Amino acid sequence: MTDSWVDSAERIGSDLHLVLSGPGGRRAALIRALRDAVRDGRLAPGTRLPPYRSLAADLGVARRTVADAYAELVAEGWLTARQGSGTRVAERAEPLRPAAPASRKAPPRAPGPRHDLRQGSPDGSAFPRTAWLASYRRALQHAPGEAFGPGDPAGRAELREALAEYLARARGVRTEPGRIVICSGFAHALRLLFGGGVLRGPLAVEAYGLGFHRGLLAAAGVRTVPLPLDEDGARVDRLGRERAVLLTPAHQFPTGGPLHPARRAAVTDWARARGGLVLEDDYDGEFRYDRKPVGALQGLDPERVIHLGSVSKSLSPAVRLGWMVLPEGLVDAVLAAKGEREAWASVLDQLSLADFIASGRYDRHVRRMRQRYRRRRDRLVAALAGHAPHVEVTGVAAGLHAVLRLPPGSEASAVEAAARHGVALDGLAAFRHPGTDMPVTDGLVVGYAAPPEHAYGGALEALCGAMPPP
Ligand SMILES: Cc1ncc(COP(=O)(O)O)c(C=O)c1O
Repeated sequence: MTDSWVDSAERIGSDLHLVLSGPGGRRAALIRALRDAVRDGRLAPGTRLPPYRSLAADLGVARRTVADAYAELVAEGWLTARQGSGTRVAERAEPLRPAAPASRKAPPRAPGPRHDLRQGSPDGSAFPRTAWLASYRRALQHAPGEAFGPGDPAGRAELREALAEYLARARGVRTEPGRIVICSGFAHALRLLFGGGVLRGPLAVEAYGLGFHRGLLAAAGVRTVPLPLDEDGARVDRLGRERAVLLTPAHQFPTGGPLHPARRAAVTDWARARGGLVLEDDYDGEFRYDRKPVGALQGLDPERVIHLGSVSKSLSPAVRLGWMVLPEGLVDAVLAAKGEREAWASVLDQLSLADFIASGRYDRHVRRMRQRYRRRRDRLVAALAGHAPHVEVTGVAAGLHAVLRLPPGSEASAVEAAARHGVALDGLAAFRHPGTDMPVTDGLVVGYAAPPEHAYGGALEALCGAMPPP
């Protein structure tokens, strides 16, 4: 049996896997293999077949065998041979490939809401395509040959170096490249830490947070214990026998305030005393609009805080790149959880991001987006002050979303009213830990980043129109 990948890309535009087997010799086997490839659609009508010589060489058969097989298939009508255009798969009125069964067809996509004010996405229309392309091109041009082999699970050194410098400068993180492990975002970091057996629960979490992350932890067998929130952030004085605590210290998600400095100190004290760890989710630390920068909690104690970040807010969640800044003693365990090779984060994207950061393009992009989001936030605040002054807008000193506080019991009807006005958004209830006993607060979480610039005014108008009366 001859089993060959025929790399005839220049001739037929794709690889063709032919298996020569069965009775009747090589010629009959080749005829059967080609006929099957045409019948089941792997060779589409019009596809040019390789010249005799190259196919014969690839398959290890005589040129004559290929020539005879082609001639036979031309005679049967499967192929056509024309002077100057070689041998091609015959055009047919009927598609030869059976239609995919109905159950495997992609379901039609439901039309999205007219105005999407759900938190979570940056402005996709502002992705820095030209700058990213320039970095990608440079990365590709300068990548050494070994970069195209299997990747190091720690991530490319170029990116870890760029991040160590950037995070120290912009976020006050204390680290060096050897303590950074690249991953494909915050969610992946959680999976590695808990699903990969590096850390174990129970894990304290904020009483309001992303249900998606809680679900992911539950799937890894981790029990989460909710910490109540107040105006100073998470009540870290309630920490008890947990092994670790997951916080959003720069900008509580979703309620919006920073963790009070006294609590920042208290939680690192707790971790030292308990031998525990703080997981810092720094998901939107770049976007702070007042003059009170909130640096990374990790800077207080790099041996007790795992700093986790990603480009999901600053660039796009589609890039799927993030980082873990680890205490020295955890690096090996995280690398072991990742496995022998990089299986998640594309090395070419890592190199592109390294160039994007090192060239200053990342800083420029973040600064531009900070201005844009700040203007949007100001427009949101002004529109609500004009149309619904009784609605308090909170959590607006940072980030890409705000929380509109509502009278008790009015949240569900406000979400519905927004939907009737074509506005998609979530209420605070969507983020509440089911196990918390802290008092319910009613509010709408308004993401103001996602709509493209031209659609933002209309989204604000619709939102204001949906606000409950005083
Ligand atoms: C609270 C929170 N943490 C982390 C992230 C980042 O998640 P990922 O890096 O998995 O896209 C997000 C979303 O961007 C978020 O809302």
